[in-house]
Amino acid sequence: MTEYAIGIDLGGTAIKYAVVNRSGAIPFEGTMPTPATEGADAVIAALAKAINICKDWAADNGLHIPGAGIGTPGIVTPDGRRVIGAAENIAGWENVALADRLEQLCGIKVVASNDANAMGVGEWTFGAARGVRDAIFITVGTGIGSAALIDGHIWRGHYGRGMEVGHITVKCDGEGCACGGRGCLEHYASTAALVRRFAALTGKEADGREIVRLYHSGDPVAAKAMSEHWMYLGHGIASVINIFAPELVVVGGGISEAGPFYFERLRRVVGAQAMAECAANTRIVPAELGNSAGCLGAAALILHAAI
Ligand code: BGC
Repeated sequence: MTEYAIGIDLGGTAIKYAVVNRSGAIPFEGTMPTPATEGADAVIAALAKAINICKDWAADNGLHIPGAGIGTPGIVTPDGRRVIGAAENIAGWENVALADRLEQLCGIKVVASNDANAMGVGEWTFGAARGVRDAIFITVGTGIGSAALIDGHIWRGHYGRGMEVGHITVKCDGEGCACGGRGCLEHYASTAALVRRFAALTGKEADGREIVRLYHSGDPVAAKAMSEHWMYLGHGIASVINIFAPELVVVGGGISEAGPFYFERLRRVVGAQAMAECAANTRIVPAELGNSAGCLGAAALILHAAI
């Protein structure tokens, strides 16, 4: 029986990698920057490097690793082998034979899935959604991704092409999104959007962590940028609740680790906007596995043959 696998979470900013065991423990993990503007070959080389770092660690520790699961932005073919597209935050990440190329480079089995689906599987298998049958998972990072657990099954739409909640419209006359649409949730509520908004208001660069720190110190501009972030994200989540009436909405990604205040503000916006009847039994909770959910879910593709 497989005991350990590699889980990789490919983000628009960072590649997180981990060695994971069947019960969700992570004996080894690390992170490296994503060469997101350098094209698909550079990203594949970085992913291969991440897999090989994990393989080397496993070999040094006498562990057999049968495969690597990869959570990637974009739509992945249902067989888990190819990224079709819809991953605008990574240049050239379209029609990429991801599993084949990594198998050739690393010599182990590779299975890919959309990153938010991987996060959802991680939280369902090991985290906040254990034992739940209806949940929506939302990752907030460079992009916004989502997954749906419906009646105990991960639902991905016809040919796996659905659940792109980051690209639902929250502003009809809004700015153009990288996807080609206009006014998308991701364009207004991702961490990248928060960073962009703060820079536009101040002329200064700050990352999400710094903006949260400034918010706590009473900085009025950080407060404005955060309020807008909650407003857009909360409206997006309210729309999703009105459609799915899930038992849980699990929100992950780095910013979801900001603390309870983050969820209090988010719940306030959702509470004011969602239909009370649809939201009556819905709880909005942070990803229990924090930023590791993506790696854990990706490893579950191998360990539990999930999805
Ligand atoms: C992509 C999704 C992805 C999300 C998070 C979005 O821009 O369209 O497929 O899940 O970013 O990475």
